[in-house]
Amino acid sequence: MDKVRIIGGTPLRGSIEVSGSKNAALPILISSILSESKCVFRRVPDLQDINTTFQLLGHLGMEVDWDPSRSQVALSSPKAISVDAPYDLVRKMRASVVVLGPLLARYGRAKVSLPGGCAIGARPINYHLTALEKLGAKIELEGGYVIASARKLKGARVGLEFPSVGATENAMMAATLAEGETLLENCAKEPEIIDLARALRAMGAKIEGEGTEAIRLQGVTSLQGCDYPIMGDRIEAGTYLAAGLATEGEVRIDGLEPADLESVLVKFEEAGARITRGQGFIGLAAAGRPRATDVTTLPFPGFPTDMQAQFMALMAIADGTSLIKETIFENRFMHVPELTRLGADITIRGNTAVIRGKSGLKGAPLMATDLRASASLVIGGLCAQGETIVNRVYHLDRGYEHLERKLGALGARIERIK
Ligand code: EPZ
Repeated sequence: MDKVRIIGGTPLRGSIEVSGSKNAALPILISSILSESKCVFRRVPDLQDINTTFQLLGHLGMEVDWDPSRSQVALSSPKAISVDAPYDLVRKMRASVVVLGPLLARYGRAKVSLPGGCAIGARPINYHLTALEKLGAKIELEGGYVIASARKLKGARVGLEFPSVGATENAMMAATLAEGETLLENCAKEPEIIDLARALRAMGAKIEGEGTEAIRLQGVTSLQGCDYPIMGDRIEAGTYLAAGLATEGEVRIDGLEPADLESVLVKFEEAGARITRGQGFIGLAAAGRPRATDVTTLPFPGFPTDMQAQFMALMAIADGTSLIKETIFENRFMHVPELTRLGADITIRGNTAVIRGKSGLKGAPLMATDLRASASLVIGGLCAQGETIVNRVYHLDRGYEHLERKLGALGARIERIK
């Protein structure tokens, strides 16, 4: 199994470009199920989760023409495809459950495995199912599978109990082909939702209000092909900026809109960074050791849970004590015992971590547990003295394209050991 070896202590300097966003790409690729002709997506990152999505679409019977060297894929769906998403694929990648909406909308049926729990929390899909029921779907649970059917989905007023990203995506995709008007309320406002709405619009969907809590859709009878570039990955950008600040360096990250990461940039500033917000890029310059800063994770535009672990690695070496409160997932502190192995002083009280910043960390062998936890261990390793080995890097491969190459370009001493 691959490992990543890091020799810490080098301030990161230079500029890199982020890849296309994983969390925007997953539902957008899946939305091609809705389209009657070929969809071309550009700036698709070459990641494990993207490959799982292609496997899933291939399993359904779609044609997948993937060119990783150009970060481009062409997806076409025949008139009739298989409508089941098996346990093996959904277990590997929970985002697979967003096939429910498009399959129901276009083919009137879907059989999708329940994903089960995962490393960061229970993560049920009840909000997805309730929303689809409100659009007229009949839902049954049988043998670990959701079996959904609807002769024709009908537009409706759908209020989500919580602004769930996945449930908003599922409901939005389902409503594109429903009969009449749908009003989705209490929607997630994440930039990835906006990107999905834009991609659907490029296919001919009638949507307005994305990025606000109310999204209105007028159902259309069919969707057509498109040629759409995926937005830049704001979490990847935030991860490299955190690494830049933690190593007291100076970095520039190209390929995304700074507004998509504003809540994180404000926290970097509070921690002492000088931030430049440009068109399509973010600059960060450290001014010595970062300062302790408190953070609470919230739905967008709040501080993203997907940056919590990386921010904690930064706070582990900050001057002072900080509190990090996780409100989105109930079990997203798996990185804490591993950061402690580097010498970090962190205690957990319920959903809050208390981090007493240390002036230095020492390298150690570590175990990655999930995607963002792994990214936080890499940041820890980059500022620790000596050698850090991060084991189980397949977690990183799910969400960071060319991680060693990009960090290497910023001057980090990092290599993959096969
Ligand atoms: C998306 O997951 C992201 N994944 C996650 O990124 C991200 O952490 C999360 O949104 C929050 O921003 C993708 O976009 C593929 P939610 P999602 O539905 O859609 C509860 C990463 O590291 N909930 O907004 O699954 C749920 O348990 C990943 O890239 C229900 O109770 O997140 C959680 O506590 C990890 N019932 C909260 O809501 C439901 O039906 C938010 O989940 C749905 C969700």
